[in-house]
Parts: sequence; structure tokens; C-alpha cells
Amino acid sequence: MTPELRSFIEDLYAKGREFDQAEPDWSRRWRNIDPPVGEFLWILIKAIKAKEVLELGTSNGYSTIWLADAVRDNQGKLVSVDFDRELINLAQSNLDAAGISDVVELRCCEAGSLLSDLPDMSIDALFLDAERSDYAGWWPHPERVLRRGGVLIADNMTSHPEELATLYEQIQSSGVFSTAVVPVGKGELVAVRDLG
Ligand SMILES: C[S@@+](CC[C@H](N)C(=O)[O-])C[C@H]1O[C@@H](n2cnc3c(N)ncnc32)[C@H](O)[C@@H]1O
Repeated sequence: MTPELRSFIEDLYAKGREFDQAEPDWSRRWRNIDPPVGEFLWILIKAIKAKEVLELGTSNGYSTIWLADAVRDNQGKLVSVDFDRELINLAQSNLDAAGISDVVELRCCEAGSLLSDLPDMSIDALFLDAERSDYAGWWPHPERVLRRGGVLIADNMTSHPEELATLYEQIQSSGVFSTAVVPVGKGELVAVRDLG
């Protein structure tokens, strides 16, 4: 990551904290991932050389920028999805200002329906950061769309384990993933598809 982009992303995170602190309605907050989670996603995407990356839950594009910078180094592309048109517009202007829009396609739609329309084994990395209670209802698509060697990451595994419990069970009982809970930020559930 260039020093310019790092400085941009630090400013964006600070703006997000300020915005969220002033916004009484939780559902309208931007709720960005913690910066160490951004670092973790960035290095993971690079390490597995992911070229086809999907993010569910764009918000203002903070995590999108972390993912996009890693994807750009891999000569890949990122699709990021949010059903809130205002947030997609805001994310687009942040990506433009960060100079990283060329590797990102922002989609304004419902994440579960986009997931169910994707071809089998077409994704190298899937980042789940939308409404946690929805994830279990999206099964089996998170498994179906991931390539062998592909990685699923879900935020909030240690902050809200009960809300991710069914997804965790689905992943484990599928028999095709190795999993770990990485204690960074609010806890990342990481599942590598190593079979199937
Ligand atoms: C926690 S925020 C995402 C934060 C963002 N990943 C970041 O770290 O910068 C969750 C976002 O998911 C979006 N969302 C929730 N459920 C969704 C769904 N079913 N389809 C599309 N977007 C959804 C919300 O509008 C919200 O912007």
C-alpha cells in the first residue's frame, strides 16, 4: 500500500468514528471494520493470490479499499455489495478519491440474491460483513461459490458469536472447510475450502 493510500484510509477511518459517534441510529452508522482487520484482510488476500473477491456489506467503502488494494496487486477484481443506494454512492466517491475504483465493481442489491446467482466455484475470497442474522439463510451459497483453496471470512466472530453460531455449524458440518477464529478486531471467522 502506498503511503498516500494509507494516509487516505486512516483519515477515512477517523471520519467513520466521528460519524458513528454522532449518529444515534445504530443501523445508519457506517460500522467500519477495525484497522487491524483491514491489515489482516489485506495480507490474507495477497497471500492466497485471490483474483475474484466478493464483499457483502460495503457501507462507505472503508473495508472495500483495504480489499481493493490487495486485489489490485493480484491483478484481480473485487465486487462489493450493499442494498443502501446512498452508501453505494458514498463508497463510490471514496473509492474514486482513493484512486482505486478501477478494480472495484460496486453493486446496489440484496447480498443474498447476488450470492445465489453466482456460478459454482467462481470466488477466491468472500468477506461477510452485512447483517449477521442473514448469513445462515444464505447457505449453501457461501460454500457453493467458493473455489477449492478459497477463503470465507466473517467479521464479529468474537463480538457476536451467538449470531454467527449457525453459520459456523453449517461450515463445520459441510466437511469441506478448515476453520480458525482469528482474534483480531472483533474476531474473524476464517474458513478455507480445502475439499470438494
Ligand atoms: C457493518 S456495515 C459494513 C461495513 C464495511 N464492511 C466496512 O467495514 O467499511 C454493514 C452494511 O451491510 C449492508 N447490508 C446489510 N444487510 C444487507 C443485505 N442483505 N444486502 C446488502 N447489503 C446489506 C448495510 O446497508 C451496511 O451498510
